[in-house]
Amino acid sequence: MVREKWGSRLGFLLAGIGSAVGLGNVWRFSYIVGQNGGGAFLMPYLISIFAFGLPLMILEFSIGRHFKGSVVSCMRKIKNSFKWVGVVIVAVNTVVLSYYLVITGWTVAFLSLTLLKSDMDFNTFSQTYYTPLFFVIVAFITAFVVMKGVKSGIERTSKIMVPSLGILLLGMVVYALTLPNAVTGILFYFKPDLSTFNDHSMWSAAFGQAFFSLSVGSGILLTYGSYLDEKESLVSNSAIITLFDLMISIVSAVIIFSIVFSFNLEPAAGPNLAFSTLPHVFSTVPYGMMLAAVFYLLLFSAALTSSISMFEVTTAAFIDDAHLSRAKSSMILLGILLVLGLPSALSYSGMNLQLGGIPFLDHLDQLFGSLAIMFTALLISVSFTWFFDNRIVKNQINKNSRWNVGNSIFVLAKYMIPIVLFYVLAARVFNLFL
Ligand code: PHE
Repeated sequence: MVREKWGSRLGFLLAGIGSAVGLGNVWRFSYIVGQNGGGAFLMPYLISIFAFGLPLMILEFSIGRHFKGSVVSCMRKIKNSFKWVGVVIVAVNTVVLSYYLVITGWTVAFLSLTLLKSDMDFNTFSQTYYTPLFFVIVAFITAFVVMKGVKSGIERTSKIMVPSLGILLLGMVVYALTLPNAVTGILFYFKPDLSTFNDHSMWSAAFGQAFFSLSVGSGILLTYGSYLDEKESLVSNSAIITLFDLMISIVSAVIIFSIVFSFNLEPAAGPNLAFSTLPHVFSTVPYGMMLAAVFYLLLFSAALTSSISMFEVTTAAFIDDAHLSRAKSSMILLGILLVLGLPSALSYSGMNLQLGGIPFLDHLDQLFGSLAIMFTALLISVSFTWFFDNRIVKNQINKNSRWNVGNSIFVLAKYMIPIVLFYVLAARVFNLFL
C-alpha cells in the first residue's frame, strides 16, 4: 500500500501548528504562568522551548520521515525489541487523548450553552450529564476526520480550523487590550524576575509545559513527519511551528491576564480559570455573550486539531502494525476511547467519579499529561540517539535545508535532554509519592 502524504507544505505546517496549539496554549499555559508567579516563569519556559522542545521536535520529524512508519514501526526498525517502547508511547498517547477529548467536549458544551443563552456556571454544569454527552460527540467528530485520511481529513480540517483560530484570537486580543487594567495584566507576566531562577519546581513546570505544548515526546511529530515529502526542510518547518506555538501561548495569556486583572480575579486560580473564572466575567460585561461564544469557539478549534493529531498516532499504529484499514483502525480506536474516557467524563458529571477526593480526570492529567509524557519523551530521545546511527539522522535532518544543524543537536538529545528529563521526572515522582 502506498503511504499517504500531505497535499502541500502549507497543509503540513497547519496540521503541525494545529497539533501544537491546543488547550495547552490557552487553558494550561495561562494557569501555569499564574501559579508560577507570572514573569518569573517566562525565562525558564523560553529556554525549555528552544533548547529542549525544538531539538526534540526536529529529531522526531526526522525519524518519522526516515522510516515512514508509525511510532511502533519506527521503534521496531531501530531494534526489534523496541517495538514495546513504541507500544508504551502509543498507549500513553491514547490515555492522554481519552481525557483531552473530555475537555474538548466542555468547549463545545460551553459554546452551545452560550448560544442557547444559558448562564449555567461550571459547578452546576459538572453536576449534569452534559460532560459524557459532549465527550461522545467530539470523540465521533475526531474519529470521522481521521477516518477521512491524512489529506482529505486531517489536512483539510487544519486548513479551516487553524486560520479561524488566528482570526478569533485577533478579535479577542483587540477586546482585551481595551480593558482598563490590560497593562497591569501584561506586566504581570512580561516582567522577568530572575530571583526564582534556581527554583527547580518552576523549571519542572516549564519543561512539562514546553513538551506538552509543542506535542513533543508523544509520537505525534514522528507520525506527521512520516507523511512529509523529502523535499521539505525539517529545520525551518519545525522552527515555524515552534514560533507559532509560542506566539499563540503569549497572545492567549495577554487576553486572559488582561481580563483577570481588569476584573480583580485571582491569577493563580488553577485549571478552572478558563471554564469557571472567565464565564463569570462574560456574564457581566456588555457583549459578554458574543465574547463567550468567540472564546469557546477558539478553544474548540484549538482543542480539536490537537485531539485529531493524537488520534492519528494510534490509528497509524493500527494501520502500519496491525495491517488494518484506516476505517477499521479509527473505528476500533473510537470504541477504545469511549470506554477509556468514560471515567474521566463521569468525574465531571452528576456521578462525581473521584479517587481520594480528586476527580478522576485530574489524576490522569497529573499522571499522564505531565509525568508520562516526559517519560515517553525520555524514551524517544534515548532510543533515537543512542541506538540509531546519528549520521543517518543528521543527514535526514539537513536534507534540503537552508540551515544545517550540527552535532550539537546530538549533544542535546543524547545527554542534556535525557539528564534533565530524568531529573525532573525523579523530582516529580519523589514529590508525588513521598
Ligand atoms: N500540544 C497540545 C496542546 O498544547 C496538546 C497535546 C499534548 C497534543 C500532547 C498532543 C500530545 O494542547
